[in-house]
Amino acid sequence: MILCANFKANKTRQETRAYMAVVESFVSANDITDTIIVFPPFTALEHDPRNVLIGVQNGYPVKNGAFTGEIALEQLEEFGIKTILIGHSERRHILGETQEQIAAKFRFFAEQGFLIVYCVGEPLEIREQGHEALMAYIEKQFEGIDLTYSDLVLAYEPVWAIGTGLTPSNSDIELLHGALRMKTTAPLLYGGSVKVDNAGEIMALENVDGVLVGSAALSANDFCDMIAQAV
Ligand code: G3H
Repeated sequence: MILCANFKANKTRQETRAYMAVVESFVSANDITDTIIVFPPFTALEHDPRNVLIGVQNGYPVKNGAFTGEIALEQLEEFGIKTILIGHSERRHILGETQEQIAAKFRFFAEQGFLIVYCVGEPLEIREQGHEALMAYIEKQFEGIDLTYSDLVLAYEPVWAIGTGLTPSNSDIELLHGALRMKTTAPLLYGGSVKVDNAGEIMALENVDGVLVGSAALSANDFCDMIAQAV
């Protein structure tokens, strides 16, 4: 299983250090062999974690240069970062990233050998149009993306499930993940209102290889509870 905690724009450097201490010792003490990835804000990046991967929530697809406000490869390399989240719904819908920009990031960071957690997912109005429309929408989010990339993890996160407390039914998750499984051999994560109460059940579903958790993973103890539920 792969369990990811995405802090988004939450937590200070000090808070992140305290969080990592809890999660790292839990992983060591329990001989956890699942892949655990934490995506803190840039300001809380630390070098060289022991048993938990640290990834970034974004990155600009150049080595360095005149890109005000961006963080590029050179800055990530300084921290030994080799894991990145690309295509997250909040980058698409709040920050206005286009599929073209997202695909450029994917290409660049794949060339650099990063582990890429690539996110797709549909807004509610698309889901309401049925499975075919949903798959057609997600297909567009695959434009310019190499689904055979060896260090790809694909995360399905319905936009309407993120931070809302709503989740698709288990059978809807299985249906969608089954369709994604036909397209790629990459591990498939589910994200969107995963919490302690439903993480185990979701991770037990067919073609679900892990979870991408936002708000419920802000508590280190809750994230550890979810790690303990990995099957
Ligand atoms: O990256 C995480 C997802 O956006 C899910 O967020 O668990 O707060 O719904 P959430």
